Amino acid sequence: MEKAKKTVYSGIQPSGTFTIGNYLGAMRNWVPMQDQYDCIYAIADLHALTVPQVPAELRKRTYESVAMLLAIGIDPQKSILYVQSHVPAHTELTWLLNCNAYMGELSRMTQYKDKSERQGKNIRVALFDYPVLMAADILLYETDLVPVGDDQKQHVELVRDLAGRFNQNYSPTFVLPEPYFGESGTRLMSLQDPSRKMSKSDENQNAYVSMTDQPQVIRNKFKRAITDSIGKVQYDKTSQPGIANLMDIYSSCTGRSYEEIEKEFEGKGYGDFKMAVGEAVVEVLEPIQQTYNELIKDKANLDNLMKENAQKAAVRAQKVLRKVRRKVGLVG
Ligand code: TYM
Repeated sequence: MEKAKKTVYSGIQPSGTFTIGNYLGAMRNWVPMQDQYDCIYAIADLHALTVPQVPAELRKRTYESVAMLLAIGIDPQKSILYVQSHVPAHTELTWLLNCNAYMGELSRMTQYKDKSERQGKNIRVALFDYPVLMAADILLYETDLVPVGDDQKQHVELVRDLAGRFNQNYSPTFVLPEPYFGESGTRLMSLQDPSRKMSKSDENQNAYVSMTDQPQVIRNKFKRAITDSIGKVQYDKTSQPGIANLMDIYSSCTGRSYEEIEKEFEGKGYGDFKMAVGEAVVEVLEPIQQTYNELIKDKANLDNLMKENAQKAAVRAQKVLRKVRRKVGLVG
């Protein structure tokens, strides 16, 4: 049966305070999608555990993450907003998918290669298996579209491979999801090293702008952003990657094209440009921060919301999980 609305699913790890990379690259696109699609958004706490976490910090950040998603405009009247670990079907489906996933395809994931390097000798099995958990997330809800940043593209492709293989080996079971990317900001880079992705877990706090950074902190981070010695605001990712990244941020915040930005800063120095980028980011973040500061005070409200939404998500997930259990030959 054709669905009346397509299903949208995405998630975010509570592994640090969200950055403008997360926001401009992915989360921001989740908001308007609510009016057109059946949307489900998850705080992926089990994904966060694939690298060492301080337990009390993780718990705190889970609440903060829910409050932040509400603050940017995720509306629980329209969408399901829940915490991944509250729905046990995710781990169960992960196991069943593991039984059909190959070591080779998981070893090729670039994020695994990068992150495992940082874990040294004792690489967690869960880090290797991370994309299979992500596949379970997506496949449990018969997802059509997955709005993410560019760095998750390879994972979504793997989800399609796993789903397609399962459908072939058993019979049509899973919907094959498509990744969805916004028009700009899909890959924001570190402000301190434009060859690296902006990441909420970077040790250098000047490398990223967090969604809760105070205006003055934001301005200073842009002042310190790495540029080059060419001295001209123009979009050239190869020879001016720092400036190109700042242009991406500015364009995402103001809606202006690269051409318009080049014109705006013709004959002006990097100092003026960086200041303008800082102001544009402050303007986008300030109203979100005000709402966030209110929401984070009411923990009981967040607890209620998490509970209700987990129940809604669980009902949907169970339906698919039951089908998968039957297909692979489990009893009951
Ligand atoms: P996570 O928590 O690393 O990032 C959340 C979202 O932010 C995007 N993103 C960026 N976009 C642009 N520039 C950047 N520098 C940048 N950094 C992060 C990510 O692409 C992502 O869309 N595994 C996922 C969470 C997840 C998920 C899912 C996503 C779990 N289950 C199911 C989609 C569907 C992750 O670690 O995202």
